Amino acid sequence: MLFKTNIFVLCFLINEYLHHVLSQNDVINEERKIKLAQGYPLDSLLNFTELTAEYGYRSEEHTVITEDGYILTIFRIVKGKRCLGPIRRPPVLLMHGLLLSSDCWLDSGPDSGLAYLISDACYDLWVGNVRGNYYGKRHVSLNVTDIDFWQFSVNEIGKYDMPATIDYILKHTSSKKLNYVGYSQGGGTFFIMCSEREGYCDKIGVFIGLEPDSRNTNTKSIFCRIAAELYQDFQPLLTEIGLYEAVPWGGVVQQIAAFLCKDYVIADTFCRGVMYIIDSPHPNSVETETIRVLVGHFPAGTSVKNIVWYSQSLNVDVFQNYDYGTAGNMEMYNSTKPPAYNLSATTTPVVVINGRNDFLTPPPDEEWLTSHLPNVIEHYIVEDPLWNHVDVAYSKLTSKNILPKILQYLYEYSDVI
Ligand SMILES: *[C@@H]1O[C@H](CO)[C@@H](O)[C@H](O)[C@H]1NC(C)=O
Ligand SMILES: *[C@@H]1O[C@H](CO)[C@@H](O)[C@H](O)[C@H]1NC(C)=O
Ligand SMILES: *[C@@H]1O[C@H](CO)[C@@H](O)[C@H](O)[C@H]1NC(C)=O
Ligand SMILES: *[C@@H]1O[C@H](CO)[C@@H](O)[C@H](O)[C@H]1NC(C)=O
Repeated sequence: MLFKTNIFVLCFLINEYLHHVLSQNDVINEERKIKLAQGYPLDSLLNFTELTAEYGYRSEEHTVITEDGYILTIFRIVKGKRCLGPIRRPPVLLMHGLLLSSDCWLDSGPDSGLAYLISDACYDLWVGNVRGNYYGKRHVSLNVTDIDFWQFSVNEIGKYDMPATIDYILKHTSSKKLNYVGYSQGGGTFFIMCSEREGYCDKIGVFIGLEPDSRNTNTKSIFCRIAAELYQDFQPLLTEIGLYEAVPWGGVVQQIAAFLCKDYVIADTFCRGVMYIIDSPHPNSVETETIRVLVGHFPAGTSVKNIVWYSQSLNVDVFQNYDYGTAGNMEMYNSTKPPAYNLSATTTPVVVINGRNDFLTPPPDEEWLTSHLPNVIEHYIVEDPLWNHVDVAYSKLTSKNILPKILQYLYEYSDVI
């Protein structure tokens, strides 16, 4: 009897709590209620501002418009909940990787998500988004159903999204510089910006690359090689039938993943297994609850053309622009081959942090990268021998394995004003 009463009280409290959280954010919508009833974890259904609010962090939503008309929603956590001192300057920009969004930095919760942890260390934290994900699907004149909207790869992200985001933050905070933390593609697009946009590198105090992307010659993930190859092979057909967008949020892959992985047992077995196949196994690193939540925000979508760039990059030993084929390259670049990005142009002080068990941007390519950058102040190899690519966003061990190094350099390159 007592047990039954307790269960009843517990259900009542959970219900009240959910009601409170939802009404507080003014998001009582029927679809969410239905999904909650079906067992989707609440966090997987929330967006950036809602998620941070749930854990007591106040965030702001900002709109960046790029030179070529893309409208990007980015976020800012003005002050972390556990930051007790003054805010350090300059601001910090945290950039997500391929097929991710700003929300990846929240999925593992306030004790592991880097957006929480960096803002808790008293930095004015800005969290970016790139064209093509669910926070970057608007344009001043193009419609997302237009093919022209999807004619981009990392090249345009580096050339337009990054400069626009940086300029916006500097203007909004009246800062001369900011510090940039870039994960995977969010690192590669930084190098592209430095190569293609003179002067932009000078706006960055320190660049901290978390498994940053450049050339992908040694990518070990068979799954990613096959998937990228398929996109490349089927690109003409996909274009023909009007599919320019790859694995969109709300699309079949994301919906099925979210549906299956909401179940704790399936998340811990099947979904975990898929993560191990995409990257590499690392037991006791990503919590099952994080897997249940992250599929609400992954895959976040990009263009087919961007995936094809990755596919090309797996088969060359340089870091270069999109390959349009001999004739196309002549037209685009006045050269039969795509031009390589100029890594010597990254004059910013650079810190690279990478793991030995990363199958996507593995150690040989990270070494190649640092050997081509002129101003590497530290190339730090994570001590944990199983540290891999997805761990950066989702591991429960971030505060032990990579946070101290990140904070060491953010501290060195910042001040209290
Ligand atoms: C996030 O959710 C809040 C609350 O429902 C809503 O007001 C806001 O527009 C959403 N932001 C984005 C970028 O979708
Ligand atoms: C975008 O295209 C869709 C489908 O063709 C159409 O219904 C919608 O009105 C268009 N939106 C704009 C802003 O042009
Ligand atoms: C194309 O490249 C050739 C040889 O490198 C050069 O002579 C020519 O001026 C270039 N044309 C344009 C339009 O840049
Ligand atoms: C690459 O950038 C460096 C530094 O800005 C510059 O000195 C060099 O000429 C560039 N190389 C090429 C091939 O453009």
